[in-house]
Amino acid sequence: MAKRTTQFVCQSCGAVSPRWVGKCEACGAWNSFVEEVGGGATIGSAVFGQKGRPMRKGRVVPLVELSGEIAQTPRLESGIAELDRVTGGGFVRGSALLVGGDPGIGKSTLLIQAAATLARKGARVVYVSGEEAVAQVRLRAERLGLSDAPVALAAETSVEDILTTLADGPTPDLVVIDSIQTLWTEVVESGPGTVTQVRTAAQAMVRYAKESGATVVLVGHVTKDGSIAGPRVVEHMVDAVLYFEGDGARHFRVLRSVKNRFGPTDEIGVFEMTGDGLREVPNPSELFMGERDGSSAGAAVFAGMEGTRPMLVEIQALVAPTSLGTPRRAVVGWDGSRLAMILAVLEAHCGVRFGQHDVYLAVAGGLRIQEPAADLAVAAALVSSLAGTSLGHDCVYFGEVSLSGAVRPVAHAAARLKEAEKLGFARAVGPKLASGEAPTGLKRAAVTQLVDLVTRIAADGAGAAAPRREQRG
Ligand code: TYD
Ligand code: MG
Repeated sequence: MAKRTTQFVCQSCGAVSPRWVGKCEACGAWNSFVEEVGGGATIGSAVFGQKGRPMRKGRVVPLVELSGEIAQTPRLESGIAELDRVTGGGFVRGSALLVGGDPGIGKSTLLIQAAATLARKGARVVYVSGEEAVAQVRLRAERLGLSDAPVALAAETSVEDILTTLADGPTPDLVVIDSIQTLWTEVVESGPGTVTQVRTAAQAMVRYAKESGATVVLVGHVTKDGSIAGPRVVEHMVDAVLYFEGDGARHFRVLRSVKNRFGPTDEIGVFEMTGDGLREVPNPSELFMGERDGSSAGAAVFAGMEGTRPMLVEIQALVAPTSLGTPRRAVVGWDGSRLAMILAVLEAHCGVRFGQHDVYLAVAGGLRIQEPAADLAVAAALVSSLAGTSLGHDCVYFGEVSLSGAVRPVAHAAARLKEAEKLGFARAVGPKLASGEAPTGLKRAAVTQLVDLVTRIAADGAGAAAPRREQRG
């Protein structure tokens, strides 16, 4: 009989140690090791004996050429356009996906909606809930008006029972496991929720997807620091990892793909959480622009890109005289060190001083922007707020600012301009267009130095190019 092995496994990254250690060498997490029994055999030691010799005689695997016939990956379109955009045109048959997100963000809602839409179109869909009882899932479906969809539902957490159930009857097109953290298998002895359990359960489900051709969607909860709790290891096993994120206080949600073997990884899907489920937002620019009136100082519209999709976002700045020795800088939705850089460039190269002012910067709608192309819009918002002049309601900004104060070209300029034109903007301020990029009907002002922008805003303010509206009482 094999010796029972006890080992310590990091619950954050899955690293294994024969002894308990306080800090994980692999991922740096503190106090993350938990004793687990069994499952100690790593793939290497199971296949190879002690001396590195194979334990069983292998068979010859045919080696083939790189070129050859390829079967088109058949896709299962969910019918929810924002979801299909992120998966790259629908779920790929025989693939496994991980949908991660904070508890309560709407993962179960999204997946029951996708499951119901697919089932209504005739697909065989199995929804396995390990967290909620059948009655709870039914209640949600009823609230969403999806009760009539022929989704096969079960509340189960045992991997063996789930696989036996799935093998019984025709192969489903889509299997949703909500969530992977609740699954447990008898083949390992560790407690449910431990890394070993989650990894083994996920392995079984991924293997099931490959063998049966069904699409398997695994739901995973995310810890506060943004990593998928425990099953970090699951990310490597699945074909696609999607994150569902959003600000709890606001109603919009963003589905982002961070890994996708069958599609793009920079696309986002935008949803709005309403009283009756998630609603698609096909034109997010409108959502992130909020209630703009264009007359207030400190607001600049950034012509941004999320993946292949242009998106206009309002950047808001408030620059106010400080009463503190060290002025405050606070940022929501953008990078704090990037703000410090823009402030430094404005001071050093444009003579705009913020030393006696608190600076607050926010991206409207609670969106998180990572593009450096937002630099110019941020600078415009800051200068506008400091000068007390409005930038006008019909102008968009984009461009990367370098430490030397130069405005650098950014990718997809044509797409940005087109989106701005579509939404009724008349002017665009940005770097010179690279040759070959189609000009649009917008009036374009090219700036090569940040100081040009500052001069322009100052001139606009002096010339009252943007007439101020009456203050509402
Ligand atoms: P849920 O899908 O259960 O989140 P998760 O599975 O990611 O934990 O969504 C829970 C939240 O969504 C809950 O706080 C209530 C809200 N919600 C709505 O606002 N409208 C709805 O129609 C539904 C079903 C949920
Ligand atoms: Mg849930």
